[in-house]
Amino acid sequence: LEGLPVIHKDVIVIGAGIAGLFTAIKASESNDVLMITKKSLMDSNTRYAQGGIAAVISEDDSPAYHRQDTLIAGAGLCSNEAVDALVHEGPQGVQDLIRMGTQFDQENGEFALTKEGAHSQRRILHANGDATGFEIVRALSEKAIANPRIDVWDDHFVIDLITDNGVCYGALVQKPDGQRLFVRGKATILCSGGAGQLYRYTTNPEVATADGIAMAYRAGAYIQDVEFVQFHPTSLCYPGAPRFLISEAVRGEGAILRNIRGERFMEKYHEQLELAPRDVVARAILSEMEATKSTFVYLDVTHEPADMVRHRFPNIYEFCLNYGLDLTSDWIPVAPAAHYMMGGVKTDLNGETNLARLFACGECSSTGVHGANRLASNSLSEAIVFGRRIVERINALTPLEGHEHVRLESQGRSEAPIQAVVEKRLKLQKLMVRYVGLRRNANGLNKGLDELKRLRSIFSSVITKREEYEFANLLTCALLTAQSALSREESRGAHSREDFPERDDLHWRKHTVLHREYGLT
Ligand code: SIN
Repeated sequence: LEGLPVIHKDVIVIGAGIAGLFTAIKASESNDVLMITKKSLMDSNTRYAQGGIAAVISEDDSPAYHRQDTLIAGAGLCSNEAVDALVHEGPQGVQDLIRMGTQFDQENGEFALTKEGAHSQRRILHANGDATGFEIVRALSEKAIANPRIDVWDDHFVIDLITDNGVCYGALVQKPDGQRLFVRGKATILCSGGAGQLYRYTTNPEVATADGIAMAYRAGAYIQDVEFVQFHPTSLCYPGAPRFLISEAVRGEGAILRNIRGERFMEKYHEQLELAPRDVVARAILSEMEATKSTFVYLDVTHEPADMVRHRFPNIYEFCLNYGLDLTSDWIPVAPAAHYMMGGVKTDLNGETNLARLFACGECSSTGVHGANRLASNSLSEAIVFGRRIVERINALTPLEGHEHVRLESQGRSEAPIQAVVEKRLKLQKLMVRYVGLRRNANGLNKGLDELKRLRSIFSSVITKREEYEFANLLTCALLTAQSALSREESRGAHSREDFPERDDLHWRKHTVLHREYGLT
């Protein structure tokens, strides 16, 4: 780091989805904040969130119901304390979002609430029908840009965290022109999102490359439960179209699933039918696809009033129409796609990691809220509840002393990939679908690990480009996911082992934790 320009700020926020924006705005009430995003404020997973944000709003609902639904979906691995924080503090977080300018849909003067899989009550707030994430990002980014205490750096890539003796001092950042900087703050918050790009088929945008999880691992943070990857049951599966998310809220409003023979099938798999937990629906779809030798099943909402469908799902309706599919009269071809990383950088109830002054918030974190399977629409709520807690903790931190020049604890940076990073990324994504996907077994996981390790050997000189760093981060996370999946010899939530088909509470009601020096702990 010698000789690098140093930029000082109170708080460094890495990432620009709901976790980054919300936390930056809250922190700016008493801190100068630097927000770093590798693309722009409009490029995050949050922006694509359709269904909404889960919170106890209705008088028919209660934190106890929300808690119970979250714990059941989480299949015995949630942290009770983290879930309590979520269900009790969620409504206050929603009020904060509204104060920051978010406009949720209303009906007859009340918030319109929808239902999604495994929720016992209507508790999902939404905006502009099915564009909830977009509305949140719009409102919060306007606030962040207008805020004189928040600096936003677009198109800047965070290469690594800067740590010394278990303390995080900030990050090494690459500017768009390739120049590097040390950004230094009393607190660094990873809000860098998920890892959907680990898989060939994903609802996530290109930017979801596990950067935060990989850099935290390199820096010595604990990585928890990354074998739990949620596949969304219904992404559009149509020639020429991307794997666009068809919100679970469509099933919440009455859509049913049919195999390619036109038969409704969910009654064979779960009493909650199309609104069973996501992992159950996703695997049921896979079984039907296999049984009918098809690459998709159908989502059918044609029996619901066309006006309601167009009004509730304007975004999905328009998107499908662009490909000649009319949601009100056609069955829509869908298939599961990687959607959400339940695990991530392990934190305490204040969002702090085992490295002092390093926090993680949102999808890159593992707070314990989601357990083995996230309840739909709990992720946006988690980000605001723990974002607020993080800021309270940060406000109590002493200023950062010394360490203008610290050692760069970075691993694997002396090597680099050969040219064809794009090709290698595709190979990794295919390997992950094949061996570390919806159904797993020891044989496949071992093969997957071997092939992933072979991809590692392509690093041969110094890496400098964003695509190369992203590939290295994906590879790190892929190895961690495969390793955790191999170690967990049971089936639970989103993790399904053909060779260990039962849930095993006697031996496995515990987290999988990885550390770069201690391995699996
Ligand atoms: C959806 O709208 O189905 C996605 C919501 C979520 O993943 O929480």
